Amino acid sequence: MPENKKELIIIAGVAKNNVIGSKNQLPWHIKEDLKRFKELTFGNPVIMGRNTYESILQALGKPLPGRKNIVITSNANYQTNPETLIAHSLQEAIQKAYESSDKAFIIGGQQIYQQAMPLADKLEITHIHRSFKGDASFPEIKGEDWLETKREEKKGENLDFSFSTYKKRPQSLKVNKNGIFIAFEGIDGCGKSTQIRNLVEHIFNKSKYNHIILTRNPYKNMNIRDILHQDSDPYSQAEKLADLFIIDRKQMAEEMVIPNLEKGHFVLSDRYKLSTIAYQTAQGLNMQQLIDKQNSLPDPDIVFIVDISPEEAIRRMKKEDISIRGKEHKFEASIDFIRKLRENYLKAKEMLKDRKIFIINGERTREEITEEICKIFDMEI
Ligand SMILES: NC(=O)c1ccc[n+]([C@@H]2O[C@H](COP(=O)([O-])OP(=O)(O)OC[C@H]3O[C@@H](n4cnc5c(N)ncnc54)[C@H](OP(=O)(O)O)[C@@H]3O)[C@@H](O)[C@H]2O)c1
Repeated sequence: MPENKKELIIIAGVAKNNVIGSKNQLPWHIKEDLKRFKELTFGNPVIMGRNTYESILQALGKPLPGRKNIVITSNANYQTNPETLIAHSLQEAIQKAYESSDKAFIIGGQQIYQQAMPLADKLEITHIHRSFKGDASFPEIKGEDWLETKREEKKGENLDFSFSTYKKRPQSLKVNKNGIFIAFEGIDGCGKSTQIRNLVEHIFNKSKYNHIILTRNPYKNMNIRDILHQDSDPYSQAEKLADLFIIDRKQMAEEMVIPNLEKGHFVLSDRYKLSTIAYQTAQGLNMQQLIDKQNSLPDPDIVFIVDISPEEAIRRMKKEDISIRGKEHKFEASIDFIRKLRENYLKAKEMLKDRKIFIINGERTREEITEEICKIFDMEI
């Protein structure tokens, strides 16, 4: 979260059939949920509609302790506890909350949740795995607007439930898909494979319900590997490689990327468009043409370029077992070529200013690199 950014969080308990209340009361009593509600909201302003406020007064005999209570009512003469703030619209309530805090919680009920959904940044939902009769319900949590980033299953005495966190999807990620597409780029030896594995673990740890699909370039076309092994001249067969890579990538987009994004999965690719842009430009082709040729392919939501110096790349490659890597170093055997590659990656980032491309310094410990990547992922997604 960028500095000074205010955060509006909706917190609610929601039954399987979306019911949240009955006769101005909660239809269930779950101790662990009340404990979590207190832990999350304590010390922060809580915003609620008049009905919810009055049901709290009825249950506790006072407003929620340890939190600034802000109640919304249309009644200009509303009288209550002197410590409770009164607002006459949701916007006024949020403004009052932000006067003393960077974070505010919307705690209900139906009318206020409905109005706050478009404004909220995050949802903390206790999903109760049973339907209840009631007269108040929670609005639909649409997959195109919200990404579930964490889910914890719980077994209650008579009721099973789960704690879920949802984050608002950035607007740019909403086009026709529910999933998140991330590409890793960089010179061979930059350590991107390790970082992909670590990011997979990070995403999976957020929720075991996150489906993560891994893919790579080249995808299926074995001819590409043959060409890469045919000779060790880094400048040969530029046009042919560019064409084959782009056709192969189209197939990958159709078979793997798009269907999985439509299902709401995470797709992580080891190399993607930028590889062709960096490598085949280094071979002598035109960068803008390589960008244009790939315009019809879906763009990743985030690209990480793991950046190392040409000297470090050569040093790492020398250390590797050449019997495993074989001649795959067609492109990486010459330091001049690697220098061009690195320049091209950085230049492509400049040319594609509207994309989320992050240069990650790959000359640090694995842990430091992973920490930075996960931090960016958490901020962006
Ligand atoms: N499961 C959960 O997590 C959870 C959490 C909270 C509440 N609940 C349940 O939700 C139910 C209450 O929901 P509800 O929809 O009946 O009531 P509510 O949202 O708590 O309060 C509605 C009242 O807020 C005021 N209000 C709403 N929008 C306003 C606006 N734009 N400007 C000015 N005033 C505005 C109005 O008060 P005036 O009439 O005074 O103008 C309105 O009658 C209860 O059953 C409660 O138990 C459940």
